[in-house]
Amino acid sequence: MTMPVPRLIVGNWKMNGTRRALSEVETLARALRNQAAICQVAVCPPATLLQQVTVATGHGAVKTGGQDCHAAEIGAHTGDISASMLRDAGATYVIVGHSERRTAHGETDGTVRIKARAALDAGLIPIICVGETAIERETGVAVTVVEQQMQGSTPELTADEVVVVAYEPVWAIGTGLVPTEQDIAEMHSAIRAWLARHLGDAGPRISILYGGSMKPDNAASILAIDNVDGGLIGGASLKAEDFLAIIRCA
Ligand code: PGA
Repeated sequence: MTMPVPRLIVGNWKMNGTRRALSEVETLARALRNQAAICQVAVCPPATLLQQVTVATGHGAVKTGGQDCHAAEIGAHTGDISASMLRDAGATYVIVGHSERRTAHGETDGTVRIKARAALDAGLIPIICVGETAIERETGVAVTVVEQQMQGSTPELTADEVVVVAYEPVWAIGTGLVPTEQDIAEMHSAIRAWLARHLGDAGPRISILYGGSMKPDNAASILAIDNVDGGLIGGASLKAEDFLAIIRCA
């Protein structure tokens, strides 16, 4: 019998949030405690809030994650944070290779792969982000580009390790633009096939999230698409009410 792929909704707060935002997490945790677990839920706040958000979630229905990690465990890397530090602060997940890091910090597939490996070694689940640019979509190479990113960014896994993949078209992030349901279905099925080809038995255990302008009003239709196992939500994860509305569609 094959196990269903875990459904997961992750909030990526990016560089938003001070201690005042903890009340949003408390609202979220309270609402989810009072319902049967709909799906797994995680919030990735700025590193300054990670420990406090972990405490505010009551270590329960809502997990936490970092937004990036360094590939090394310790050392002279001013301003960086290691995967084991995130773990120590209570994280379960860490996002690696978000397009904003690939673009603004010059991260390559190779960087992303060693960060994902560092995350696994520290006991975290890396959320590996991939996605094409607008020009790549327009010129018909989106699937090829994403398959290449998967190839370059995914570490080899042992039998008990797991990663999460987030498909985030760069042009859909924070823009209000969303691919057609057909395009999302095509990409997620290509990623599912890639995972089956390259990761063997681990492939079916991996959740594939969609990210990019997912909102309460389009979440239900996106989350109903084949091989969409959840979402990576930016702007709409900042308010508990919006984030909960998306979680309820999962
Ligand atoms: P968005 O961001 O939901 O604001 O488009 C998604 C992301 O960048 O993870």
